[in-house]
Amino acid sequence: MKKRNLPLSKVYTLIETGPVVLLTTADKNRANVMTLAWHTMLDFEPPLIGCVVSEQNYSYKALLKTRACVLNIPTRELGKAVAGCGNTSGRDSDKFAAFGLTPKPAKRVPAPLIDECYASLECKVVDTRMARRYNFLVLEVVKAWIDPDCKDPKTLHHRGCDAFMVAGKTITLPSKMK
Ligand SMILES: Cc1cc2nc3c(=O)[nH]c(=O)nc-3n(C[C@H](O)[C@H](O)[C@H](O)COP(=O)(O)O)c2cc1C
Repeated sequence: MKKRNLPLSKVYTLIETGPVVLLTTADKNRANVMTLAWHTMLDFEPPLIGCVVSEQNYSYKALLKTRACVLNIPTRELGKAVAGCGNTSGRDSDKFAAFGLTPKPAKRVPAPLIDECYASLECKVVDTRMARRYNFLVLEVVKAWIDPDCKDPKTLHHRGCDAFMVAGKTITLPSKMK
């Protein structure tokens, strides 16, 4: 393979993990939703997920104050909402109404589930030690929901700027990994 230099500012476009999620919060009964692509699994059970949320986002304050959120996983039908929720702020708009998303009560946290998403993970913020330095928060999933009819979810995976990859075919390879 002939490789050429890649600007360091573009590295994230190779490593950025998927699927893109819609992170909901609720502060003083006002719900909000933002798009989040920078997240990673940290442990199996209880499931721990690390994520990077900029403090410039309106969601950040609610997330730290309530110490709770829901990670909702959208599929490609929700592409416009994914882009919209990532390019507008809940400071000055109701993104649920603007992008046709239906909030439904969660069981363990004040933030809502998004009805149109095929899976929703109710999370508590359990570690903020790296928040000041990296805006990195550790979430523990305390309740998980999935639509059993959605067998092959076409999730969205961010490739930087306005480029997204849609999940493709599932293949089987020998593996001892859980
Ligand atoms: C595809 C995509 C992925 C994004 N991923 C993240 C992310 O991982 N972390 C983050 O802080 N912001 C991310 N954003 C930006 C926020 O979603 C955006 O700033 C949003 O307007 C914040 O909304 P809020 O002010 O209502 O909280 C992403 C935006 C897009 C479009």
